[in-house]
Amino acid sequence: MADQKQTPPVSKNGGVFIAIVGRAASYNAAMTEQPRVHMLVPAAGTGSRAGTAQPKQYQTLAGLPLVVHTLRALARVSGIHSLNVVVSPTDERMQALVQSDPALRGVRVWPVGGETRAASVSAGLRQLTQAGAAPNDWVLVHDAARCLIQPEWVQDLIEACRADPVGGLLAIPLPDTLKQADDQQRVGATLRRDDKWLAQTPQMFGLGLLSRALTQAGLGVTDEASAIEAMGLQPKLVLGSTLNFKVTYPDDLRLAALVLGAQENQT
Ligand code: C5P
Repeated sequence: MADQKQTPPVSKNGGVFIAIVGRAASYNAAMTEQPRVHMLVPAAGTGSRAGTAQPKQYQTLAGLPLVVHTLRALARVSGIHSLNVVVSPTDERMQALVQSDPALRGVRVWPVGGETRAASVSAGLRQLTQAGAAPNDWVLVHDAARCLIQPEWVQDLIEACRADPVGGLLAIPLPDTLKQADDQQRVGATLRRDDKWLAQTPQMFGLGLLSRALTQAGLGVTDEASAIEAMGLQPKLVLGSTLNFKVTYPDDLRLAALVLGAQENQT
């Protein structure tokens, strides 16, 4: 059986290397070693707001399915122990995509997605625990739909949160003036913006803490940080990038395709 200590967590070509170890061995390793860092990518949504015939994660951008751009970027982050994707139980494409892409070697696909994003993340956390992750391991949850993520932004988050007792998330200060609407869609108020940030992903928390937080918060929360905040804790805001937007509407698809195309031309 492989000795966890002698196994590099990430292969030299950037693909994620997942050691095949027995559950008992990995549990012991987890209790004696530094917390490991796992990546969890919820990709079980239907993406109805994107107006595409197929779920947006499979929309082709710059020659590849959107989710492949996301996963390839995450696979290049150093120090990641495992990279895991949650898909819908009826999804038949993700496993095939992962198996046919050498850059995604070792990525695990879990068909355990639920009705909401929080349900999909909770199911993924249970899978992680069953696969031997320890409660004090870190989990970075990243939306499949944020396909412009860059490894260095994820690295910034890990460095900023590794020694933090709570954890944190990538976010950017709100650039625009913020209006509160009334029920007639007229401006009810203009809100202060200098203390407002837009939450992005990845969001990085301890596996045990996040599992408890999501159980308590219920399946309606739209990000991990909200669940942690509901416990009275204050996640750290780590500066992200405006390019790390979530592909949601048809215009986002066009913009993401343009950026990916431009990045390809630069390399
Ligand atoms: O719907 P939204 O764009 O907010 O979803 C954010 C991320 O959560 C997407 O990557 C989507 O695939 C995922 N999701 C999920 N399970 C759901 C709903 C969304 O994994 N039931």
